Amino acid sequence: MEKLVITGGNKLRGTIKISGAKNAAVAIIPAAILSDGVCLLENIPDIEDVNIIDEILGKMGASVRHISTSSIEIDPGGIKEPVAAYDLVRHMRASSYLMGALLGKCLRADVALPGGCDFGVRPVDQHLKGFGILGATHNIEDDMIKIKADKLVGNHIYLDVVSVGATVNVMLAAVKAEGRTTIENAAREPHIVDLANFLNSMGADVRGAGTDVIKINGVKTLRGTTYSIIPDQIEAGTYMAAVCCAGGDVIIQNVIPKHLESITAKLREMGVFIEEFDDSVRVVSDGKLKRCNVTTMPHPGFPTDMQPQIAALLSTADGTSIVNEAVWDNRFRYVEELRRMGANITVDGSLAIIKGVEKLTGAPVKATDLRAGAAMIVAALGAIGTTQIEDIRHIQRGYEDVVGKLSSVGADIKLVDDDDNMMKN
Ligand code: UD1
Repeated sequence: MEKLVITGGNKLRGTIKISGAKNAAVAIIPAAILSDGVCLLENIPDIEDVNIIDEILGKMGASVRHISTSSIEIDPGGIKEPVAAYDLVRHMRASSYLMGALLGKCLRADVALPGGCDFGVRPVDQHLKGFGILGATHNIEDDMIKIKADKLVGNHIYLDVVSVGATVNVMLAAVKAEGRTTIENAAREPHIVDLANFLNSMGADVRGAGTDVIKINGVKTLRGTTYSIIPDQIEAGTYMAAVCCAGGDVIIQNVIPKHLESITAKLREMGVFIEEFDDSVRVVSDGKLKRCNVTTMPHPGFPTDMQPQIAALLSTADGTSIVNEAVWDNRFRYVEELRRMGANITVDGSLAIIKGVEKLTGAPVKATDLRAGAAMIVAALGAIGTTQIEDIRHIQRGYEDVVGKLSSVGADIKLVDDDDNMMKN
């Protein structure tokens, strides 16, 4: 078992380069199944979630070839059986995208109920509603969702909740349906736009992505393509938060500053100096932060995937802050871990009331999920003493080379093997 060992107090200085977006990659890799040719995907992050989805595609018969650490070539020609069993999908929420991709390609998808981060009930009713309106039927047997259609016909779909996953899945099923599909109340996240751009580069006709109405004119075939995915908004936000907590002056490179607007706005409210350039942002902080309130919302609101990291920052802000988690039912499991480090946080339903303390103190903590783990890293970088973070497999799902990137700007962070205490870099 590996753990991260971080000693706080070092100011961070230098440049961090952001990798490709996890949430775009885990939608676009399954989307490549829809192609009749070979897709070359670039700027793919070197993370566990990508390895898992690659493995799933490979086991289904696709040829997945890593050209470099950041590019993969996918030839879905060998996929015969549209089946993804539980042992493959259990670790990964985004494996639910196989439903839309396989249904779009084969008019059939048997996919086990997905795993992923545990922050409350994660229903797929809107995904299934969308497939149903396009003409598919489904049943659930032995924890497998079995979906099939004689044909898919474009239609009008209103999503009852703004769901990234349902928007992606309906897009995947609709690109090759007959006629026009309109998705209303669609999610507007940057990775939805990225997926639409990827699909269009294969010859699809998807318009309006990035707004709440997406229109898709079905096409008969999709060709192979070369596509470079967007930078990771949440990875960038996490390193911005790390600089704010530790203090320092860091350029975060390879970002789209527009995607970071809600994060930048909150950090500025907390007194942090942020300068925006074409494809980078500079973050300057003395580690002293002002209180603020945060409510998570679908894009362009403040992202729920930055909620734990911002709460870690507010733990040492000047005054009392309220964080309202309005997307997920149960996304405060990390609070217990921050409390071990001395944070004063009370949870009341969807609210976390955070009374800023002078400093956090290093302690043994757990990464209870991916972004919770990110929050522990942020907190540890500004804490007095040493923090040991366990269960880092969650962090490895979504952050490429976190040790290398933070070490390069001066953080004292090491990956340690629990069994023999052997240091790894
Ligand atoms: C995606 C992200 C995840 C992020 C979340 C919200 C990926 C791989 N994961 O997850 O990191 O936290 O968006 O930004 O991109 N809902 C329903 N019925 C459904 C689907 C969703 O009620 O059929 C609800 C959920 O319970 C939740 C809300 O809608 O309260 C948003 O969920 P959704 O946007 O679907 O999240 P994911 O796509 O799973």
